[in-house]
Amino acid sequence: MRVETLEWLADEEKVCLVAQTKLPGKLEYIVTDNYLVMCDAIRRLEVRGAPAIGCAGAYGVVIGALSIDDTDFKQFSAELRRIMDELRATRPTAVNLFWAIDRMEKVFNEQSDIKAAQQALIKEAVEIHREDAEMCRRIGKNGAALLSDGMTVLTHCNAGSLATGGMGTALAPIYTAQDQGKNIKVFADETRPLLQGARLTSWELQQNGVEVTLICDNMAAVVMRKGWIDAVIVGSDRIACNGDVANKIGTFTVALLAKQFGVPFYVAAPTSTVDTSLASGDLIPIEERADEEVAGFNGIRTAPDGISTYNPAFDVTPNELVAAIITEQGVHKPPFDFSYLTQ
Ligand code: MRU
Repeated sequence: MRVETLEWLADEEKVCLVAQTKLPGKLEYIVTDNYLVMCDAIRRLEVRGAPAIGCAGAYGVVIGALSIDDTDFKQFSAELRRIMDELRATRPTAVNLFWAIDRMEKVFNEQSDIKAAQQALIKEAVEIHREDAEMCRRIGKNGAALLSDGMTVLTHCNAGSLATGGMGTALAPIYTAQDQGKNIKVFADETRPLLQGARLTSWELQQNGVEVTLICDNMAAVVMRKGWIDAVIVGSDRIACNGDVANKIGTFTVALLAKQFGVPFYVAAPTSTVDTSLASGDLIPIEERADEEVAGFNGIRTAPDGISTYNPAFDVTPNELVAAIITEQGVHKPPFDFSYLTQ
């Protein structure tokens, strides 16, 4: 069973999101026509994962546009641009958010009438979502060619259907290989501090009948040393032109381990995750999140009061550790140069 992480409810003009912080205990949804609820959902990781954040941003623009009362186009336009900036400010690292909102703004710039603009924005958001699902499907097909029957893949964080508008990025090759009749097993890192691996990846794979073994992040070296891992596949939040890859904190450590044990380290992401304005990963903005996420989990404090913490949500894996980047366009091997995407 594949869960749709986002859905546009056309009749009600509302967005439906899986409330991901409730998983795996409860499968609940957030249904809203309020862009502030969407901003909050992105910030609190109710909707998360770079491609899904992009789709959520686009739908956020839609519900924002539908909620504006102004009848004067100039005032409508000023208010909508303010809403777009508010959505852009929710999370800094996943470039898909900015990519999708910029696309929405471009469509809006061609409009001169409120009703027509609202309709054009709905159409564009639905199209961004549809394209994302299609990109996932192609990533699955391209990535599955790297997997043979009987392989075991280690993944970090959640880059499955919960994180995208389709079947996922890092998990798409696994689902596709499974559909092709290959038996693929997965080791999922739990992914501290917010446990996307434990809560989301293991749940999602279990729902889809993929054999998954959950490990704590600090066990990855042991399972690689035992020779249990044939490949690592992770997603990404932003890829620089030279193939440096930002992804969930801990990904860099996994890449270093993969190098040590001769395991290929693959990144799967749509080309909407490539930031063609950045030559290297040094320039990728890294989100820092609240102290409590490190000092405890789910409201239960595990560290002493007053302790200092450091909580970067992402890290950057240098391109020399990446064996290939799987996009909807194909399997890109080093040396990477994504500057052609600007053309
Ligand atoms: O903080 P999150 O849960 O949004 O982080 C998600 C990740 O790091 C994913 O690996 C990445 O966005 C790719 S999702 C297809």
